[in-house]
Amino acid sequence: MKALILAGGVGTRLRPLSHAMPKQLVPIANKPVVYHGLENIRRAGITEVGMVVGDRGDQIRAEVGDGSRLGLRITYIPQSEPLGLAHCVLISRDFLGDDDFVMYLGDNVLLGEISDFLEDFREHRPAAQVVVTKVADPTACGIAEVDADGRVLGLEEKPRHPKSDLALMGVYLFSPAVHEAVQSIGRSRRDEWEITDAIQWLVERGERVRAQQFSGFWRDTGQIEDLLECNRVLLDGLTGDRKGDVDALSRLSGQVVVEHGAKVRRSRIEGPVIIAEGTVIEDSVIGPHTAFGPDCAVYDAGVRNSIVLAGTTVRGVHGIHDSVIGRSSTIVPSPGEPRRHRLIVGDHTYAELAT
Ligand code: TTP
Repeated sequence: MKALILAGGVGTRLRPLSHAMPKQLVPIANKPVVYHGLENIRRAGITEVGMVVGDRGDQIRAEVGDGSRLGLRITYIPQSEPLGLAHCVLISRDFLGDDDFVMYLGDNVLLGEISDFLEDFREHRPAAQVVVTKVADPTACGIAEVDADGRVLGLEEKPRHPKSDLALMGVYLFSPAVHEAVQSIGRSRRDEWEITDAIQWLVERGERVRAQQFSGFWRDTGQIEDLLECNRVLLDGLTGDRKGDVDALSRLSGQVVVEHGAKVRRSRIEGPVIIAEGTVIEDSVIGPHTAFGPDCAVYDAGVRNSIVLAGTTVRGVHGIHDSVIGRSSTIVPSPGEPRRHRLIVGDHTYAELAT
């Protein structure tokens, strides 16, 4: 069994963050999204991983390397353009050979073990197996119609009149039968090779396609709100650890990680909160559900339910909430008259200011 992680794509919905880094490297609870998937794959006993990367592949390679740190052997598979999930399978043919494989979307986070899905796949040996979860709005997702025995009767992409409320998650299991399917389908209306079309092709050929239902936490971190929700949920599982320097005038409650080389002075931290190496927090009120990357400087500030990336300075500003702040940013009060705002922000930025 091999794994194929999809870490290309555009990340349009995660702008402006995705202008500067591939969305699979955005940290959730201070760990790049793609690691959550890679670690899950390793826990399932898979070591051979193909990683499909796009034009930000160099950044992913620099971060993840050959995978040896995680106990994996990673082969990078460049995709010239993000032409769809089935296109990823198409270009990975040499790497995959005739092995079964699990395909995992590199921007997905699930709390649960993919080994459970693998067991089911090995037991039933279908041509393909999708993992589905109940959703409130099936018209926004890829939907599977499934019979009482778990057999997939058909798939639909964002149906106007959905036949079920079971949405496809970002984990798929395939036998080598999928290769003929991806070669047989054409491009869709949105000009992509769709994995739903490939699976539907298998269904129509009479191949056995199964669905396994997952009821735990799963999110595609394609949008800011989902990132923040994943951050909250993963931080809820945090175990406090104070390796850094916390002075006697600070008050920490709940689960707070202060990493080695981080400093907390005269501040109130309400966990779950994680403060990375080299970050200094002084005279501030932080948390809950906040992750500070390395080397941030936070003075006289208030930040909660947020993700703050490396090297950012926040000084003299309170009430920051539900925010994602990119690397090496500076957030300070506007001098002079109140209600004046000065913004030097990147493309596709979103800002809410008190008026
Ligand atoms: P998506 O979120 O469906 O696509 P996207 O990355 O282009 O995002 P957006 O719609 O915001 O522009 O992709 C799911 C995962 O699969 C993600 O990790 C990117 C990856 N992917 C590829 O590697 N190649 C592709 O051709 C596509 C479409 C996605």
